[in-house]
Amino acid sequence: AAIKQYQFDIQVKNVSRLCHAKPVVTVNGRFPGPTIYVTEGDRVVVNVTNHAQYNMSIHWHGLKQYRNGWADGPAYITQCPIQTGSSYVYDFNVTGQRGTLWWHAHILWLRATVYGAIVIKPKQGAPPPFPQPSREEIILLGEWWHGDVEKLVNQGANMGVPPSMSDAHTINGKPGPLFPCSEKHTFVMEVEPRKTYLLRIINSALNDELFFAIAGHNMTVVEIDAVYTKPFTTQALLISPGQTTSVLLQANQLPGAGRYFMAARPFKDVPLPVDNKTATAILQYKGIPNTVLPILPQLPAPNDTEFALSYNKKLRSLNSQQYPANVPQKIGRKLFYTIGLGMNPCPTCVNRTRLTASLNNISFVMPQIGLLQAHYFNTTGVFRTDFPDRPRTPFNYTGAPLTTNLETSQGTRLSKVAFNSTVELVLQDTNLLSVESHPFHLHGYNFFVVGTGIGNFDPAKDPAKYNLVDPPERNTVGVPTGGWTAIRFRADNPGVWFMHCHLELHTSWGLKTAFVVEDGPAADQTVLPPPKDLPPC
Ligand code: C2O
Repeated sequence: AAIKQYQFDIQVKNVSRLCHAKPVVTVNGRFPGPTIYVTEGDRVVVNVTNHAQYNMSIHWHGLKQYRNGWADGPAYITQCPIQTGSSYVYDFNVTGQRGTLWWHAHILWLRATVYGAIVIKPKQGAPPPFPQPSREEIILLGEWWHGDVEKLVNQGANMGVPPSMSDAHTINGKPGPLFPCSEKHTFVMEVEPRKTYLLRIINSALNDELFFAIAGHNMTVVEIDAVYTKPFTTQALLISPGQTTSVLLQANQLPGAGRYFMAARPFKDVPLPVDNKTATAILQYKGIPNTVLPILPQLPAPNDTEFALSYNKKLRSLNSQQYPANVPQKIGRKLFYTIGLGMNPCPTCVNRTRLTASLNNISFVMPQIGLLQAHYFNTTGVFRTDFPDRPRTPFNYTGAPLTTNLETSQGTRLSKVAFNSTVELVLQDTNLLSVESHPFHLHGYNFFVVGTGIGNFDPAKDPAKYNLVDPPERNTVGVPTGGWTAIRFRADNPGVWFMHCHLELHTSWGLKTAFVVEDGPAADQTVLPPPKDLPPC
C-alpha cells in the first residue's frame, strides 16, 4: 500500500459565472477542487491549511474512517474547525471500499464551493466486475449562487426563513449554455465512436435531488456510493445530494448528430415552487464541429415520483461471492425516527416564529466543542445520550395537514449504540408542516436499504417485504416524500457518527443527530487516540 499525500490550501478566489465575478472559498484556487486518487488499501494524508477568513473543516464523504473519527471532519462533531492561519492533517486508511466518493467542506454552507471527487481504484488482482472503459470522467453536479452563501446561511439557519434558490445548477462547476454568459462555462466531454466510458457522477448540490440524462445514450449503473451493484441500463438517473453513481456509457451513436447534451435538473414532488433550472454539459464525438447544435435529453418531470420509486427499486447490491452483501438478519436494536419540519417561537425572528426541522421532534443543537473529544475524554455536559428510540406519541405521520405537534424541543441528544450490535432504523417522513423527501446520510458506515414505502410504516406488515438478500448498500438514502425507508447496519465502528439530512437547508434547521458507538472489548476495537494537531476550539 502506498501513502498518497495532498496539500489543500483553503483560499478565496474570484470566480466568474453567469456574467458576474465573486470571491468564493476554494481548495488550491480551484473550483471544483482537486480529485483525490487512491488505491484500495492506501493511506491518505491531506494537509489542510486555512488561508481564508472562514473557519474550515473537510469531510471525506462515505469513507468509513474505522476507529478514526478524528479524520471524518464534520465541525463540532468530530473536530473543532481549522481556524484561519492554521493547519490540520487528515490521515486515514482507505480499506474495503472501491469506486467513487467525494469530499466537501463540513461547516455552515461552505460546501457550496468547497468540494471535489475521490476515486478509489480497486487493489491489484481485483478488477471491477464490469468491462474496462477506455477512459473515465468525473461529473460533479452542483449549484451556484450569485449571492454570498454565508448570508444565505444566516437567512436559512438563524432566521429560519427559506433562502432564495440557487441561481444555476452546474456540471463540474459550469452551468452550461442555457444560462447567460455561460458558453465558455460549459463542460465538454469528447468521445470516440464505439468506445466505452465510465462516468463517476456525484451530487454535490446543497439542496436539490437531481435527475441526470444524456441525449441519445443510455447509461449502465455499475456502482453507487463506492459499492458495486447489479448492472442495469437506464435512460435517466436520480441522484440525491451526497450520493454517487458510476455508469458505463457507450459512444454508440453511429452515425450520429455528433453533439449531445448531458443535463441535470431537480426532482421535487412537493406542492411548493420548484426550482427547475437545467444544467447542461456537452458530449461531443471526436471531429464534430462545435457549430452543430446539441440535442437535449428527455428528463423525468420535476415531480415524477413514479420514476423515482421505480429507479430506486432497480438498485441492488452485486452480492457476488467476491463482494457479498452481509445484510444483518437478526436485529439487536430497533429505532424509529420521525422526520418533521415545524415552527418554533423565535422572539428575534421575522414573524416571531422560525422554521425548524427535527427527528422524533427533537431539533439538534450544535455543541461548542467536538462531540468525539467530549466522548473520548469523558467530558460531561456537552451532550446527552437519551435520544429516544421512537417518538413519544405515535400519530398518523402522513395524514392530512397536522395542526398539532408542530413545536419541537431542542437539544444535543445522541443515541448510544453497543459495539457490534445490529441496528435497524426506520426513517419516517411526516406531514408536520409539509411532506418532503430527505436524503439521509450516516457518517462512519454504509448501511443496507432493506425497505421503503409510501405512507405510514406498518411494523406488522412491512418488514415481511424487506429485501434481506441484495439490498443496495450505501451511505446516503432518499426517504421518499410522505413515506419511509428502513436501513440496517452493524455498529462495528466505534466513535461518534453524525447522521443528517444532506439538504443543507434542513441540516441548518436541526435535521440531524449522532450515534455514539461504544468501544468493543478488544484493543483493536476502540477509538484511536486523537492526533496531536487536532484543532482546538
Ligand atoms: Cu456529505 Cu455530513 O456529509
